Amino acid sequence: MEKLLEMISAEVQNAFAAAGFDPSLGQVVLSNRPDLCEYQCNGAMAGAKALHRPPFEIADAVAAKLKDSEVFEKAESVKPGFLNLTVKPEFVRSYLVKMLHEKKFGLKLPAHAPKIILDYGGANVAKPLHVGHLRPAIIGEAVKRILRYAGSDVTGDIHMGDWGLQMGLVITELKERQPDLPYFDTDYTGPYPKEAPFTLAELEEIYPTASGRSKASEDASDEEKAKAAAYKAAALEATKRLQDGDRGYRALWRHIMNISVADLKKNYDSLHVSFELWRGESDVHDVIPGMVDYFRQNGYAHESQGALVIDVTRDDDAKELPPCIVLKSDGAALYATTDLATIQERMREFRPDAIYYFTDKRQALHFEQVFRAARKSRLVLPETELRFIGNGTMNGQDGHPFKTRDGGTLRLEKLVNDTGEEMLQRIRQGNPDMPDEEARDTARKVALAAIKYGDLSNQPAKDYIFDLEKFTSFEGDTGPYILYTIVRIKSILKKYEAEGGDAKNALLAAAQTASEKALALQLTRFADAVESAAAELAPNRICAYIYELANDFNSFYHETKILSEPDESKKQSYIALIGMTMRILETGIDLLGFEAPERM
Ligand code: ARG
Repeated sequence: MEKLLEMISAEVQNAFAAAGFDPSLGQVVLSNRPDLCEYQCNGAMAGAKALHRPPFEIADAVAAKLKDSEVFEKAESVKPGFLNLTVKPEFVRSYLVKMLHEKKFGLKLPAHAPKIILDYGGANVAKPLHVGHLRPAIIGEAVKRILRYAGSDVTGDIHMGDWGLQMGLVITELKERQPDLPYFDTDYTGPYPKEAPFTLAELEEIYPTASGRSKASEDASDEEKAKAAAYKAAALEATKRLQDGDRGYRALWRHIMNISVADLKKNYDSLHVSFELWRGESDVHDVIPGMVDYFRQNGYAHESQGALVIDVTRDDDAKELPPCIVLKSDGAALYATTDLATIQERMREFRPDAIYYFTDKRQALHFEQVFRAARKSRLVLPETELRFIGNGTMNGQDGHPFKTRDGGTLRLEKLVNDTGEEMLQRIRQGNPDMPDEEARDTARKVALAAIKYGDLSNQPAKDYIFDLEKFTSFEGDTGPYILYTIVRIKSILKKYEAEGGDAKNALLAAAQTASEKALALQLTRFADAVESAAAELAPNRICAYIYELANDFNSFYHETKILSEPDESKKQSYIALIGMTMRILETGIDLLGFEAPERM
């Protein structure tokens, strides 16, 4: 449906026309002096020069035409020539009623849903999920929900790192520990065991051990350095053998995948993050040779110092972009190669209008090279949009990337659990009678809101500090504050129903007080928030909107006796207004990827 601001603008534009001026001057904006008016139009100022009239005269003439407007309670011209506008409460009421009757509160949907693939998560198999993977997961999931709500046809793909050196490292370490396993016996032709020769806990220990053994510090002895180099060489060799199709290695790889992916799913589930596709780098392995031939045959790629590269420089580049390396001099494919092959396969399978990538912003150069190489080699159509949304780092209180106390990388699971524990204490303090199970479930929900909102309320590209104390606070611009507001409304509605009221069918009346009207006006702006969040791929727009909405609700709540209001129709109207507020807040947090408990 039409936006309230569009309707208001149309009214003022008509008035400009009626007064004999160019209607396009009648564009209305939100007031920057909310103490004076709700909306304003600066068209008289803008048009004065061309019209050779003082702005005040123009504004006056337009205001006169708005005297009997159905839309405005007050349309005032003020010096030097602004129009200050205050809308009629009845106009707002009927708009809200219309919103309630429309799907998605009247959000305008595109006639054709654009097909978009979101590449986010980016977890690496066999390595534990660490905090670095938190932001791409949280932001990607929120953007997916927002775009889908706004009418796009969205598919999320985790694009796992499941084919690289970490696999060779794990296999090398296993071979040293259990050399007699049939996977390492090249003469073995029988079936391999169904059970993996390691547990998840072992796997979690094997990778860091192997990774550690493949590196030597600078002050290590020559002997240690040689040992590490030999270990790394063995891991590289194992990686190559795996990729070349060694039967035993592939079987081991499947064990690693099964165990690791099950664990990843569990972790992402606990974050309310999900993927339609669980594809990875390994899925495009077999199409790489064909793609490379295609690059060669069409002259898109050429040999450079033994490697095969695609030139991606442009004349207007301020800084020269290094070429995109497709094959190393030893013929091995790289990260960029798998990304190019993945683009090719996505185009074949889905023909998306756009592919958006969510990872740490330090990968910006990689994606710029890949995007240019994909365009140059026509893996995509000229109109296919490829976009990289690089996220900033989540930092600790010291301003440096978040680490464990002993300086290691923090596992995602631990961060979630620690926040949950902190929350559980607060929930127990505030609700000593809450049954344990409910308290735990509530704590989990609130903790997730704290983490996600703390992240999403920042622009994706900005770094931020993970401040447990602040994020878990029930006051201020936090997830728990939003949940607390929702829970507060839920409890009022429950009481209303317990007293025999019918909250769902409560009739909305025109607002009478300032805080009531401010809340009503805020509700009309829901679609603006969703549209700008979708257009800018910016979940922070939703955060900012629901925060303002929660603030407007709480101001109204503190100034209004809701349940004890003696006038029945007034009371009903309050219930309708806060019921709608709750639904919009709940829609907002669903778009962000978390949910509210029943009480807290
Ligand atoms: N696995 C990669 C990493 O951890 C992220 C993958 C992002 N997606 C992509 N198509 N490259 O850094």
